[in-house]
Amino acid sequence: MDTKVYIDAIEKELSACCDEFFYAESSVTSAVRYSLLNAGKRIRAVLLFMTAEMCGKDWRKYLRLASAVEMIHCYSLIHDDLPCMDNDDMRRGKPSCHKAFGEATALLAGDALIGIGLETIANDKNISDNARIAAMKAITRAMGPMGMIYGQELDLEYEEKPADKEILNRIHRHKTGRMISLCGTLGCLDSHLTEQQKDALTLFFDNIGLVFQIVDDILDVEGDEAQLGKPVGSDAENNKSTFVTLYGLEQSKKIANDMTEQANNAIVNAFGEKSDSLIQYTAYLLNRRK
Ligand code: IPE
Ligand code: IPE
Ligand code: MG
Ligand code: MG
Ligand code: MG
Repeated sequence: MDTKVYIDAIEKELSACCDEFFYAESSVTSAVRYSLLNAGKRIRAVLLFMTAEMCGKDWRKYLRLASAVEMIHCYSLIHDDLPCMDNDDMRRGKPSCHKAFGEATALLAGDALIGIGLETIANDKNISDNARIAAMKAITRAMGPMGMIYGQELDLEYEEKPADKEILNRIHRHKTGRMISLCGTLGCLDSHLTEQQKDALTLFFDNIGLVFQIVDDILDVEGDEAQLGKPVGSDAENNKSTFVTLYGLEQSKKIANDMTEQANNAIVNAFGEKSDSLIQYTAYLLNRRK
């Protein structure tokens, strides 16, 4: 499985969006380009493209939607690193946005990415009007106060006190899971799926979204800072409850493995061999070191 073609395409599209939606001369533009372009694994874009292909669609028609998701995700990272949140100095192998541009510009760069992400969808000519409205609803819900923002709110609240397993589950499913399952929702827009296929896709993305944050928690403990491109030990420093603190490393890995297997079984039953790419990709997501 080669994801290079997807990643090259999303990088090009994001760069085109920066040219289209930003003034060339502005410190916010510079900060956005610094944080957004040629950076990140682009796993949300890849998941979206692979889902679209599994549903029999041309993945290239989903480039704008995937760009919007990557922009909103990038905003969440810029704000997540701010001193008032996780206070992390490195991101994607470079000084984090506020370290390079100052806090006020980083705040504005994040704000700008929210607006531009939504504008990108509003201007997307590759999908039907109905799909565009559905996409807008899905992304605002996933990123909002019943989605990622709620997860971030709880994540910070529980720095002050220990979270139990149920709370931790709720934190992870919101702060990270919602933006990942969004990619499943967007990838099957305009597709006519059976109820079984819809349920399988929901289960797949619910599991993969949680697994992604479990692996992130594991890498925060046993990852290599240079390879990861962001600080190791940030969670411990901020007193966070994580899968590692609540379950231990070995049990966390087992949960991630089991949930991935369950996710894969669901889509292979519902989509047959069309699910091959997504299934191969989950192995990468599980074993990633960055
Ligand atoms: C990091 O996301 C933040 C989490 C939600 C765990 P990624 O690991 O996808 O970060 P990039 O986009 O590759 O930098
Ligand atoms: C981040 O979780 C979730 C969001 C950015 C919404 P983390 O705080 O664990 O992400 P990293 O480890 O800083 O990338
Ligand atoms: Mg955080
Ligand atoms: Mg963080
Ligand atoms: Mg983390």
